[in-house]
Amino acid sequence: MIADIHHHIVYGVDDGSRDLETSIGMLKKAVENGVKGICCTSHAMPGHKPFPWKDYMAHLEELGAYIQKENLPLTLFTGCEILYAEKAAEMARRGEIPTLARGSHVLVEFLPITDWVQIQKAAREFANAGLRMVCAHVERYQCLHEDMDRLYALHDDYDVICQMNASTVIRSHGLFGDKWARKALKAGLIDVAASDAHDLSARACNIAECRRILEKDYGAETARELTEDMPYHILFD
Ligand SMILES: [Fe+2]
Repeated sequence: MIADIHHHIVYGVDDGSRDLETSIGMLKKAVENGVKGICCTSHAMPGHKPFPWKDYMAHLEELGAYIQKENLPLTLFTGCEILYAEKAAEMARRGEIPTLARGSHVLVEFLPITDWVQIQKAAREFANAGLRMVCAHVERYQCLHEDMDRLYALHDDYDVICQMNASTVIRSHGLFGDKWARKALKAGLIDVAASDAHDLSARACNIAECRRILEKDYGAETARELTEDMPYHILFD
């Protein structure tokens, strides 16, 4: 049973789904992909603007009602994707921004040019707040590309869960595919694959194709770990 822990399906609160119709299409697309659980990770920008709790919860409940009415085999969980900022960890600890599925994991992203010192600082701050950081799309950060040892450190020393986008896994396929991604996957440094779906076109949910590539290139066990075991661990910790 696949779960997708990074998905911008709640409409009208960030650059993800723009309206109810799109969100309903995204629900159906997720079901087609074999997804049974979605963590609805709208963007949170602590220090810049408050998390849009009211609209987020109202729209999430609307989608939950649709799932019930249509009897879709899918469960939605609350969450967000935190753009790292000072005090973000404290805000998550206090519940001012949502953790993943109301548990002790947080999905955290950085600007692509963020330096390594800042990522380590973030990992320490969330750990000190009693939260385990899930690093969103680890493939996006220049400092980790410059030195793969940093990815090892993030994964092994800081105990951060490393998430890769499904589209990157797909791009890693084949001899001329994304070398860095392939190396990270082969080394076992990627813990979870997620769609980071934003819409029904260029950034649609593609976790089924990702799963096929994982099985083919990295084996059935890796495919299951990245799309089922770790996501469920995060959702039900
Ligand atoms: Fe995202």
